[in-house]
Amino acid sequence: MSTSTIGAESLFISACYCKPTQRTPIWIMRQAGRYLPEYRKIRSQVDFLSLTKTPELAAEVTLQPVRRFEMDAAILFSDIMTPVEGMGVEMEFSPGPVIKNPLRTAEQIEELRIPESGENAPFVAETIRIIDRELPSSVPLIGFAGAPFTLFCYLVEGGGSKTFSQAKSFLFAEPRLSRIILEKLTEVMIGYLEAQVQAGAKALMIFDSWVGLLADTDYKAFAYPSVCRIIESLDHLDVPLIYFPNQGATLLGTVKNCGADVVGVDWRTSLSVARNVLGPDIAVQGNLDPMALFASKEDLESRIDDVLREAGEEAGHIFNLGHGIDKNTDPDRVAFLVDRVRERSQRNL
Ligand code: CP3
Repeated sequence: MSTSTIGAESLFISACYCKPTQRTPIWIMRQAGRYLPEYRKIRSQVDFLSLTKTPELAAEVTLQPVRRFEMDAAILFSDIMTPVEGMGVEMEFSPGPVIKNPLRTAEQIEELRIPESGENAPFVAETIRIIDRELPSSVPLIGFAGAPFTLFCYLVEGGGSKTFSQAKSFLFAEPRLSRIILEKLTEVMIGYLEAQVQAGAKALMIFDSWVGLLADTDYKAFAYPSVCRIIESLDHLDVPLIYFPNQGATLLGTVKNCGADVVGVDWRTSLSVARNVLGPDIAVQGNLDPMALFASKEDLESRIDDVLREAGEEAGHIFNLGHGIDKNTDPDRVAFLVDRVRERSQRNL
């Protein structure tokens, strides 16, 4: 929670700590990916998993959107499932994660390994070191991990789902076993995130993509404690911590106390409502609907202005989409978005 001296000149880091900035910083979730022709070119020669495991290539695709749009932050090119391979889970991507043997039995859960922090996915640290050499200090690199509950959803369900009914029924039928999975994931994510900062990440983000499946009482019982533990354990690293509870509108009153410096807000909740609940000491990140990039330019402009207005005059807003960018988005629309946010958010300090 304390102010970092690293990247002190970065708009992004300042905004994370609710310090006034000359304009609102912007980056976008999934900014490296299939909507970019330069990404598709590399991906046509290598599958997604290999791309995440080849440091030179993963660093290159991390830098692509930063070069093209001059984003105010870079995000490591990897996946939330990357560190669970080190726990002994076998998977592939098609295009989302598919788990070979979904977790269902006490034996499988017992066998989940807790690798040493430096041993787990060493190619990630190498990727970060390459990126760190290339990026100017005004553009910090965000490292990330999935929140334990969201990882649990994939590991128990076996892949993506709208309802995650297998995972959620397991959570309620086997709360004791579920807690063991969640605790192991918490342990591993703490070490994994620490290793990213040691390698050069300047901020950390925790993606809780599926937490909207839980009512607040179940969130408090199963998901929130692991988020708090991760944040508490990383506090000493002195980098801003961002928590993104996707579809978490009804959870914000609880999220407020998790210790995060920044809360990511999905596109369903207005930033003014989120700010009212979270208070003046927590920055907000978001939250243009990714599909707004398909609207007419005039409509897109007014939607961008609405997000800036909802964020208000107080310091502590990082512009972003309210979820990952769609793969069919026109990159020129992203350039237009970045320019508009830069122009409309200028302030005299
Ligand atoms: O640019 C960035 O934001 C960094 C890279 C990044 C990826 N995945 C690359 C990726 C990040 C931060 C993630 C996180 C991630 N992965 C989340 C949390 C964010 C969210 O969206 O809620 C989740 C739930 C996953 C799991 C996952 N991985 C899914 C659902 C998919 C399929 C996505 C799709 O659009 O079809 C993936 C694969 C994946 N991860 C791709 C990318 C660029 C597509 C891979 C490809 O090139 O085929």
